[in-house]
Amino acid sequence: MRAISQSTGVVGLVLNDLPLALKAGNIPERTDANGNKISVVKELENLLIQHLKNRGETADAVEADCADGVLDGGVYKGRPLNGIWATAPYLHNGSVPNLYELMKKPEQRVTEFWVGNREFDPIHVGFDTTTGLSKFNVNGSDGKIMPGNSNRGHSYGTNLNEEQKWQVIEYMKTL
Ligand code: HEM
Repeated sequence: MRAISQSTGVVGLVLNDLPLALKAGNIPERTDANGNKISVVKELENLLIQHLKNRGETADAVEADCADGVLDGGVYKGRPLNGIWATAPYLHNGSVPNLYELMKKPEQRVTEFWVGNREFDPIHVGFDTTTGLSKFNVNGSDGKIMPGNSNRGHSYGTNLNEEQKWQVIEYMKTL
C-alpha cells in the first residue's frame, strides 16, 4: 500500500472514474530507493486492478463497497464525519471552505478564499473566509488548477435541490 499512502489525493477521487481520477492526481512518477523512476499512475492502476481481481469484482463494486463501510484495499475510506462542523476547510487538501460549498457542483465551488480566521460561520458551516491570515487559491496565475490544490471531485449530493442540501448540512451539524 506504499503507493496508496503517497497518493491518497488521487485515490480519493477514484470511485467514480478511475482514468480521470488518476489524471486529476497529477502525480506522474516517483523515484524509488535505487533512483529508478516509477509511474505512480501505473502503480495505482495495477493496485486497483489487482484489488478488483482478487475480489472478482468490477469497478462499479468499489462504490457500493464504500457505502457499506467495509472497503478493504485499493482505495481509502472517507473518515467518519463526527464533529465535521468544526473542521473546515474540507477535503484532504482544505480546498473547500465550508459544507455549503462542498454541496455545490465541483466546478461551481469558490476557487479563492481566506484561511486562518477563527470567526465561525454557522450558516455555511466553516470559518469566515472574507479575511484571514493567508489566501487559498485553487488556480495558479495561469488560471489552471494548481497541482495539489484541486477542489474537484466529491460530487456526492451536488444534484440535490437547495432545500435538500440545507437539510443535509443541518444533519451534518448534528454529527
Ligand atoms: C451526500 C452524501 C455525502 C456527504 C454529505 C458527504 C460528506 C463529506 C464531507 C463533509 C467530507 C469532508 C471530510 C473532511 O474534509 O474531513 C467528505 C469526504 C469524503 N467523502 Fe463524502 N459525503 C457523501 C458521500 C460520499 C460517498 C457516497 C462516498 C464514497 C463513495 C464518499 C467518500 C468520501 C471520501 C473518500 C472523502 C475524502 C475526500 C478528501 O479528503 O479529499 N462520500 N464527505
